[in-house]
Amino acid sequence: MTDRKPRPLVAGNWKMHGTRASLAELESLWLKLGRVPACDVAVCPPFTLLAPAMDYTDHRRFVIGAQDCHPEPAGAHTGDIAAEMLADLGCRCVIVGHSERRQDHGEDDALVRAKAAAVLRAGMTAIVCVGERAAERDAGAAERVVERQLAGCLPAEADAASLIIAYEPVWAIGSGRTPSPQEIAAVHRTVRVALIARFGDTGRMVRILYGGSVKPANACELMAVENVDGALVGGASLRADDFDAIIEAYR
Ligand code: PGA
Repeated sequence: MTDRKPRPLVAGNWKMHGTRASLAELESLWLKLGRVPACDVAVCPPFTLLAPAMDYTDHRRFVIGAQDCHPEPAGAHTGDIAAEMLADLGCRCVIVGHSERRQDHGEDDALVRAKAAAVLRAGMTAIVCVGERAAERDAGAAERVVERQLAGCLPAEADAASLIIAYEPVWAIGSGRTPSPQEIAAVHRTVRVALIARFGDTGRMVRILYGGSVKPANACELMAVENVDGALVGGASLRADDFDAIIEAYR
């Protein structure tokens, strides 16, 4: 049994925000991280900024990832982007199964699993999002929901090294509300147990991120919770100052 811990990751999800003018924030982040953070850092801008974003990363300070992909490697899928195209650009990771895609585009666990498989097939890391809705939390079902999503979303070919889980309670995203550290610890423990059941001892090395209203003001408290191996940050990742202040939780 290993008592090593995974190196933390702070990942920024820009969602549908940003034009070329926003690349200045990446440049500013690049300069701030000159001190080399004590955690890994990823930035996931919209598709339109992925190519120019590559100019701002040497893959040491931060890597660039995408927010979604299509499960197929190529084909007649107007408007979609294949994982292979993202890998070709230099992306290192792809977020799949974000609750906004589940809600806005009707994505279910089977589609999320297929997308995660595509990310692995293209040689990148899949950041698989899970999380309960408010009514499910109120019904005391948060852990059951997350277990079910994990069972449905992890592809058969996944291994511990190419997978990151992001626990994002839907009601905490963009709301300014977060679960208590105890509530986060309970869900992250459930995820860890599921990962160990699935991958054996290497399941301890899969990073489990917390996401949902992470800000500079709460980052230290949230990142100190047992089995929280970093954060998936939405709104607060758009400004280099705020994002850097969250990364600061690991300095
Ligand atoms: P938020 O979003 O930090 O703005 O709450 C997190 C996410 O959706 O990844």
